[in-house]
Amino acid sequence: MAYLKQQRPEKVTVPSLRASKERGERLVCLTAYDYPTARIIDEAGTDIILVGDSLGNVVLGYENTIPVTLDEMVSATRAVRRGVERALLVADMPYGSYHTGADDAVRAALRLIKEGGAEAVKLEGGRHRIETIRRLIAEEIPVMGHIGLTPQSVNKLGGFRLQGKTAEAARALIEDARALEEAGVFSLVLELVPREVARVITETVSVPTIGIGAGPHCDVQVLVIHDLIGLSFTENRKPRFVRQYANVRQTIADAVERFAQDVRTGAYPTEEESYGLSPEAFLELESLLSEEKIEEK
Ligand code: KIV
Repeated sequence: MAYLKQQRPEKVTVPSLRASKERGERLVCLTAYDYPTARIIDEAGTDIILVGDSLGNVVLGYENTIPVTLDEMVSATRAVRRGVERALLVADMPYGSYHTGADDAVRAALRLIKEGGAEAVKLEGGRHRIETIRRLIAEEIPVMGHIGLTPQSVNKLGGFRLQGKTAEAARALIEDARALEEAGVFSLVLELVPREVARVITETVSVPTIGIGAGPHCDVQVLVIHDLIGLSFTENRKPRFVRQYANVRQTIADAVERFAQDVRTGAYPTEEESYGLSPEAFLELESLLSEEKIEEK
């Protein structure tokens, strides 16, 4: 359908991402949580589609990502899978699904891969996740890392703030990135970190960096699709890195208001929007009904 599909129809894979970085290509990643959105953004040429655990706050109405369950992630991933042909499909491991040991992490990741149809999983955290990441990779499960702001740490962090602001904190992030690369991640999300730090990491590691609120130097940019199209309920706390390209919330509200007005005034549905009997069937029905009336008397 879309221009990108004709120009670059080839399927995006874990190995092709590294080749893209080597060629200096800038790639696009978006979240999706359902079939129609997945289909639209895949056909529009998105390179990586992430079933993020932002599902929790964006779609399910939770306060944050903490309550999201593995079942909810598997269900969303299955729906997205049906809509995706070209993009690499990655599913987030929800909070609690990889925190109790490598065996549990493998079990959870296998559900996202086998039942959900994901081609890779993402999990949050730096050096302390290395054992888990190594184990997943040993079981043939490609892993995307995620450092900087890690929303599943919200209770520990006390909010969503820029990470790596001091030289020491920045150095720790760079070390985390190196450690994750060494453990074998195929890509690395950098969330809410200063652009200088993202630049050093992007130039240091050989795997693609995927930035969200991390400036222009990352190899890939990711946004939550609901933020991009104006379907989020974050109007009072819209992060500065969100660029809204459409106002779908307003479009939906306008459509619903017009529908309600048409229903209330009788303008909907018209004859063309309903079904009728054939003239013969109508006549027959009338005579049946009048016979019934006579019998009743
Ligand atoms: O859950 C999510 O949507 C994410 C991305 C924004 C990176 O982790």
